[in-house]
This record gives sequence, structure tokens and C-alpha cells, in this order.
Amino acid sequence: MLRAVISSRLASSLDKNNYQLILVGTQLHKSFGSKLNIVTETRTAKIQMSRDEPIPSQPLSVTIGLIGPGLIGSALLRQIAKQAGKLLGPLHASKIAVVGLANSRQMLLRPEGVEFDSWEVDLAEKGEPLDLDLFASTITSAAIAASATPSSDPTAPGPACAVLVDCTASDAVSSAYPAFMKRGLHIVTPNKKFGAGPLAQYRELREFSERRRRRFMYEATVGAGLPIISTLHGLLETGDRVVRIEGILSGTLSYIFNTYKPGMRFSDVVAGAKARGYTEPDPRDDLSGLDVARKVVILARECGLEVELEDMAVDSLVPEPLRGTGVSVEEYMKRLPQHDESMASKAAEAAASGGVIRYVGCVDVEAGSAGVTLRTYPDSHPFAQLSGSDNMVVFTTERYHDRPLIVRGPGAGAEVTAAGVFVDLLQVIRSHPRA
Ligand SMILES: NC(=O)c1ccc[n+]([C@@H]2O[C@H](COP(=O)([O-])OP(=O)(O)OC[C@H]3O[C@@H](n4cnc5c(N)ncnc54)[C@H](OP(=O)(O)O)[C@@H]3O)[C@@H](O)[C@H]2O)c1
Repeated sequence: MLRAVISSRLASSLDKNNYQLILVGTQLHKSFGSKLNIVTETRTAKIQMSRDEPIPSQPLSVTIGLIGPGLIGSALLRQIAKQAGKLLGPLHASKIAVVGLANSRQMLLRPEGVEFDSWEVDLAEKGEPLDLDLFASTITSAAIAASATPSSDPTAPGPACAVLVDCTASDAVSSAYPAFMKRGLHIVTPNKKFGAGPLAQYRELREFSERRRRRFMYEATVGAGLPIISTLHGLLETGDRVVRIEGILSGTLSYIFNTYKPGMRFSDVVAGAKARGYTEPDPRDDLSGLDVARKVVILARECGLEVELEDMAVDSLVPEPLRGTGVSVEEYMKRLPQHDESMASKAAEAAASGGVIRYVGCVDVEAGSAGVTLRTYPDSHPFAQLSGSDNMVVFTTERYHDRPLIVRGPGAGAEVTAAGVFVDLLQVIRSHPRA
């Protein structure tokens, strides 16, 4: 029987359905020009393959370096451990291995792949001091070592794909992305710091990534595992014109405003959210609007607006006298009730006009502006129907005009966020140049 390389999608689909591939016909040349009979014990099917279809490449060797195995990073490791073996066929990969792990102090470098069962102990006990440069070079050299010169032998090792996954919230790590990418690494991250960082750096990385065919993927920075950025890409790439994007982009602020009703004390709702662990240890980190503003910057830039975080209009929900490090968290919580009146009057005014107040990020593409504001929405608006801590993003476009396109769901949580990062990782592997 003749052995042939077939496209990974076809291979996996045949494999899944227990088909056996037998090639009949003339010649296996630079392309599959012949008719293939796919024969199983019980069934026969015929597939005509195009004369133009190139010989698929050798399987890809994928090496991953993960920085920040915290809540999201460790969930991602569990998901990779469970899925990697199953994905080799569909991704036409010979290996998917996490070859480096690093936290803020230590790193574990294992070119052959870390042990998924014992990485925590290994990192703590056998880790070496963190050196981002050495970390990145090990991921790329492990990738190069796993690859080989292209060969006509389909069983020979194929090209390699090296990916840096940043699951920290660190500026120090995100500011190294350009250096990582220059080493040949793709970047995948839920960390907002680079996407919402200085525009010039962001543009430079984007241009470099296009020129060198390396990806910078950050779906999980907005709406965690929800398909927000990919939905926006789909709209733009298919020629839709985005008019406006409005979003409830913080689970904490979603919970606070879904709970808060006229007659309640705003400070009680904030204290309740803190007690349930829905806020950051310092609730001002949520209520300042900075985290939402970073997400809005990311969305605005994806729409082509040249915005800087510092220039954006952001309504902070932290009363002026309670801002700054001079006021401790305890003092902030104690003095917050003194400021309940201002929020109460806004909520009462909204209710009198048949509406609710919601804290939203908005990208007005037509006006070329972006911001974060407390706004009144009518009771009939989808934002008014939201419950719990869900995120919701409303895309108003030329096509989705009278009835906007809405994406809604949990905008935080380890498993969903890690899955959002994982989807990006799979996209990177699928699109990695194979020639
Ligand atoms: N949690 C969510 O639901 C959610 C949702 C969407 C997006 N995100 C984003 O996902 C990222 C991770 O969030 P998380 O909740 O997993 O955070 P986390 O549990 O605090 O984990 C952070 C990890 O990053 C490491 N780290 C911090 N600074 C570092 C540095 N300078 N160098 C190397 N490692 C460093 C920490 O190491 P140490 O243990 O040594 O400090 C830890 O392993 C953040 O950017 C966050 O905004 C989170």
C-alpha cells in the first residue's frame, strides 16, 4: 500500500470515522491528481482532490512557554494537559509541549516538556531564578531543535512553532513582547497591559507581527472567554462597518449595578460585592474604571481609532476625596457611605424616566471617540436585562443596525478565561507558516 501525506483535516476526519485510506489511480506527484477511493470494511466513499492542492507539510512541532501559572495560567495548563494529545491529528502536529514555566521569582525550563502532574512542585523545588531572556531563548531553541530541514520524507520532523503565553498582569512581562517576537515567538495573552499600552509600541508590534508572520493574540483581555475580539474581526474582515460598540465589561461593576436599585445604599452594595469576593482587594481598582478603560482602548484600536489610555474620558466611581494611596482600603470603605447621595440621585432620576444606570465602555467609531461612563438606559435595553456579574457587548454596525449583535456571558473565571487563551493558542498553531 502506498503511504501518502494527506491534509490534517481530512486525515483526522477519516480517522474519526474509522476509514482506511487506500490510494488507487495513476501517480502521486506534487499534487494529488488522482481519484482516491476511501474504503472501510463496511463503506466506500470517493473523494476527488484538486490537482492544485499542494502536498501538505510535515507535522508541526509546537513548544509553549507559559509565564504566570496563577489562577488562569494553571487552568490553562490543566486544559492543555487534557487536550494536547487529542489535538495532534486535527492540528497536524507531532508535538505540543509546554517547555517553560515561570512565575515572578522562578522558572522551570524543560525542553522535552514539563510534567503536567508535578509542575508546581518542580517549579518550586527545581526552578531557577527568573531570567526572561533565557526563558524566551529556551522556548525558541526547543522549537528549533524539534524541527528539521524540510524533507520529502513525511515521517521526518517538520517545522516548529514557538509560543509565549503571558498569564500575568505584569508590565515587565508585557513590555518584553517585542523582544520575544523578534526571537520568533508568537504571543498569546489575557494581559491587557500591552494592548492598552503606548500606541506607538502597539503599532510597531502589529506591523512587525504582519511582516514576520508572528501573531499577537489577546481575545481573553476583553470579556474573558467570550468571543468579543474575534467577533469584531469577523465583522470588519467581511466588510461590515462598525458604528458603535457598547459594553458592560467588568463583572464586578455589572454585579454592582445589576444589584443596586433606588432606595438602596450604594456603599452597602459595594461592601456586599467585596464580602462575596467579587471585587479586587481594594474595590477602588474596579470602581476607578481603569480596567474597563483598558478594554475599551483595545476595542477602539481594533476599530482603527488611535487612542491612548491617558487621553480617554473615564468617569471614576471613586469619590475624589477617597482617591489615592493616602486613603487606605479600610478608610475608603468607612467613608464611602458619606457619598451615597450622589449615586442615589442619579439612580432615582433614571428610574423616574423609566430607566436604569449602567457603567459602560463605549467606542463611537463614527465620532472617533471612546470612553467609560455611567449612563441611563431604558428598561427595554439589553443592558437593563442583565443579571449577576455577566458581561455584555453590543455591536451596532451597518448590517446589525436595527437589532444590534449582542455577545453576553461570564466575563471572568478561571476555566472560561483559560479557554479563551487556549482558543487563541490553537489559532496561532493553525495559522503558523508550514512551508
Ligand atoms: N481572573 C480572571 O477571571 C481574568 C479574566 C480575564 C483576564 N484575566 C487576566 O489574566 C491575567 C492573569 O490573571 P490571574 O487571575 O490568573 O492572576 P494571578 O492568579 O494573580 O496569577 C498571576 C501569575 O503571574 C505571575 N507573575 C506576576 N508578575 C510576574 C512577573 N513580573 N514575572 C513573571 N510572573 C509574574 C504570578 O507569579 P507569583 O505567584 O510569583 O506572583 C502568578 O503566577 C491577568 O492579566 C488578568 O487581568 C483574568
